[in-house]
Amino acid sequence: MAPKIAIVYYSMYGHIRKLAEAEKAGIESAGGTADVYQIPETLPSEVLTKMHAPGPASDVPTLEDPATLEQYDAFLLGIPTRYGNFPAQWKTFWDKTGKQWATGAYAGKLAGLFVSTASLGGGQESTCIAAMSTLTHHGIIYVPFGYSKAYQDLVDLSEVHGGSAWGAGTFAGPDGSRQPSERELRIAQVHGKNFYEIAAKHFS
Ligand SMILES: Cc1cc2nc3c(=O)[nH]c(=O)nc-3n(C[C@H](O)[C@H](O)[C@H](O)COP(=O)(O)O)c2cc1C
Repeated sequence: MAPKIAIVYYSMYGHIRKLAEAEKAGIESAGGTADVYQIPETLPSEVLTKMHAPGPASDVPTLEDPATLEQYDAFLLGIPTRYGNFPAQWKTFWDKTGKQWATGAYAGKLAGLFVSTASLGGGQESTCIAAMSTLTHHGIIYVPFGYSKAYQDLVDLSEVHGGSAWGAGTFAGPDGSRQPSERELRIAQVHGKNFYEIAAKHFS
């Protein structure tokens, strides 16, 4: 049976959302499907306004109950960095998963990661490394991207681009005005496709 995949993201300014859409397209190109969820916002609307953030997307279901994820085999997790780490919104979601942690409800599921940072050195890799602890405590198996599936796009230095062996990535720029480039979206599609193929093999 085809693995059930959930793409779960938080996106304050839409960069991670765009990568999530590319990841989904990649999964579909491999013959799979994915359900997309956003992590609940935790900041009050006055603060979001001050941060020039539009607030949660109205057309993507919000993942209120961690039990929803129990029905999936694998998760692709989209994280916009905060100080090289999870945003608090992500942490709040995982802090609600004590039941799944205690019962092993997520154990043995697969997870891949994709990230967004403002700048080079801003945390593309450290954000993924920081996420490892949460995955490990749940017994979730991290699936790295590696280099081989998108080698040219990942190693080429002729233009600035996010993404690494840890997963797809984009740079938002210091004011958030940079949008995911064609190359970053291509890497995210290949990442989604590769993740789906590994999950299909793993759960066959
Ligand atoms: C409080 C805060 C802390 C941040 N910390 C970092 C950081 O450590 N490194 C970095 O490159 N970008 C940092 N950023 C920029 C965000 O990562 C960027 O806005 C985000 O990746 C954009 O993705 P989104 O549009 O999906 O929200 C920070 C942003 C905020 C609001």
